[in-house]
Amino acid sequence: MPSTNGTNAVQKSSSWGAIPTSDMARRTFNPIRDILTRPVRPLASPKSSKDLLSLSIGDPTVFGNFKAHPVVAEAVEEAAASYRFNGYPPSVGLAHVREAIANKYTHPDAPLTANDVVMTSGCSGAVEMAISVLCGAGKNILLPRPGFCLYNTIAGSHNVEARLYNLVAEKNWEADIEHMESLIDENTGAILINNPSNPCGSNYTKAHLRAILAVCERHRVPLISDEIYADMVFSGQTFTSTAWLTATVPILTLGGLAKQWLVPGWRIGWILIHDRANAFEHVRQGLVALSTIINGPCALVQAAIPKIFAKVPDTYLPELNRQLESNARILETEINNIPGLNVITPQGAMYVMVKIDLAAFAGITSDADFCHKLKWEESVEILPGECFSYPGTVRLVITPPHDILRAASARISAFCQRHRK
Ligand SMILES: Cc1ncc(COP(=O)(O)O)c(C=O)c1O
Repeated sequence: MPSTNGTNAVQKSSSWGAIPTSDMARRTFNPIRDILTRPVRPLASPKSSKDLLSLSIGDPTVFGNFKAHPVVAEAVEEAAASYRFNGYPPSVGLAHVREAIANKYTHPDAPLTANDVVMTSGCSGAVEMAISVLCGAGKNILLPRPGFCLYNTIAGSHNVEARLYNLVAEKNWEADIEHMESLIDENTGAILINNPSNPCGSNYTKAHLRAILAVCERHRVPLISDEIYADMVFSGQTFTSTAWLTATVPILTLGGLAKQWLVPGWRIGWILIHDRANAFEHVRQGLVALSTIINGPCALVQAAIPKIFAKVPDTYLPELNRQLESNARILETEINNIPGLNVITPQGAMYVMVKIDLAAFAGITSDADFCHKLKWEESVEILPGECFSYPGTVRLVITPPHDILRAASARISAFCQRHRK
């Protein structure tokens, strides 16, 4: 029917109505963001008038006690002042930056060149590219439980089935190899591991990494090794990059500046392509293709990387690890003094996992309920194990200063005492 203005255009209704979203947007769900933005009580301010103490997000910059080394800021200032990095970078990253990253992470048993490096927007961007280059709709990926929830978010968003293999708390969170292997079928696109781990704070032994590599080898499934916490381990621990231990298994190793260099807001990450069996020819092309979607991450911050690697002194990382360990031990001692809570000793990264004996508390129905009521009554924000597909636990971030860690522990203790059976 012709419209009233005389054209043949279909008559639209007078109001816009709600524009529908894509299936992809509807499938995309990040439980951490959801929990942190959920109201504590609908339409009510928290019962507690105390300041909020947040031990929830893995952002070491929040309290100002962990600061990036001055060289890190200087490197970006220099890059900006040079006017050389205002244009579009190549989509896979600036050549000299890829070379600096290859030189830093090359190893006699896992050599790298600039061609093996793809720059990404944060390590989150590396996770997304790695999953989407190896897995598509109809494929499945093996992910750790407990594990960083972004893996599930990205898999869900891309219509990839997430199959969760168990980590065993009593064995320093090693993967249950038999369980992992039982989940593999002809549609498995990748196994993903995260070492050192968020949320577990674990650091795997060489023997355990070899056992995981053997699973990949037996089933010809490539590995994604998220090493954003590489080298961030406590005394007595040694970090091993998975790629150093195999001459055959194709691996995408993921990293970034966020954690070790204390600049998560700069959103710079990378993928290291380890392909000594020449199995990743198509994957390399796929990564290049995917990198063209956003034309690479911020050129200015990329350009700072060679100076950061060259000039941040060797004493920086051991000192950072020493401080993190001292924080972890304070939190562990304080929390272990609270009946009903039990810390699983971390070996690295920025987190502690705490088991809750729900039977010890009256009126607390789950880890999520524990966190919710704790925030409402004591203004302490921590994350429930539910976020990491591991109910019955909570995750605390160890980066706040000692006084905040002690104050938060005292509030958690008061909360637990009030709710004890
Ligand atoms: C295990 C793990 N992988 C990846 C990321 C994402 O890092 P980025 O902040 O660089 O995107 C995080 C961030 O917390 C993480 O914990």
